[in-house]
Amino acid sequence: MLINVAPDIETMGIRAARVIANEIRNKGRIVLGLATGRTPLPMYKELIRLHKEEGLSFSHVTTFNLDEYIGLAADDPHSYHHYMFSNFFNHINIPRKNIHVPDGMPADKEAVGIEYEEAIVKAGRIDIQVLGIGRNGHVGFNEPGSSLGSLTRTKYLSEATRREAAKEFGSPEKVPKEVITMGCGSILNSRHIIILASGVEKADVIKAAFEGPITTMCPASIIQLHRNVTAIITADAAAQLTLPVEDIMGI
Ligand code: F6R
Repeated sequence: MLINVAPDIETMGIRAARVIANEIRNKGRIVLGLATGRTPLPMYKELIRLHKEEGLSFSHVTTFNLDEYIGLAADDPHSYHHYMFSNFFNHINIPRKNIHVPDGMPADKEAVGIEYEEAIVKAGRIDIQVLGIGRNGHVGFNEPGSSLGSLTRTKYLSEATRREAAKEFGSPEKVPKEVITMGCGSILNSRHIIILASGVEKADVIKAAFEGPITTMCPASIIQLHRNVTAIITADAAAQLTLPVEDIMGI
């Protein structure tokens, strides 16, 4: 695992965007796995800037988002569909047909996960999977207790995560109870993982995920099983790590 410590969240985002932009420029046709939340916002901002100012093209990029709330329509302002279009997709030249976000209103809750996995395989698997990390160790919406081999399926959120999400929804009662998420196994099937974290409130969980035991109680600890992980985290989030860190990008 390569651990890169950034001085602030903006620099973290710029570095993550550069890794992705280099891969797009080198290969053209790539498949990205994407996350929502507060953490990747500066990365999306920089990717949009690279598109608008430096001609980075997303015309051959395919995306798969990690997760979505069940019961929220794509145009609901709290949905991850809405987040992705307003923060990223509406500002770049990605073809609509290349965008995949799990369906929050599935007709068949069993089939929707299987179809999502089939679509990932048909696209040639995920080249770069971007991850954030929840304070309780979740990745995607794989909460503590999730199978480390799991694939895309519907799940119930933990109370801790619903309390966190209440900031966006106004109150915990308004946060949907059920979600659809790529599994830990789906994430491990990607070729390269970029995990991002910022803020002192993530320091405990970064320590647990990077240096603690690999355990269902901290699903983010699956990154220790992957052969190609780049962690880009701010200094406050990295504060409890004892692993050596590298300044690979020097910006
Ligand atoms: C979102 C997702 C979640 C978040 C995590 C951290 O698609 O998969 O696992 O990455 O909850 O959220 P933030 O970045 O808001 O702290």
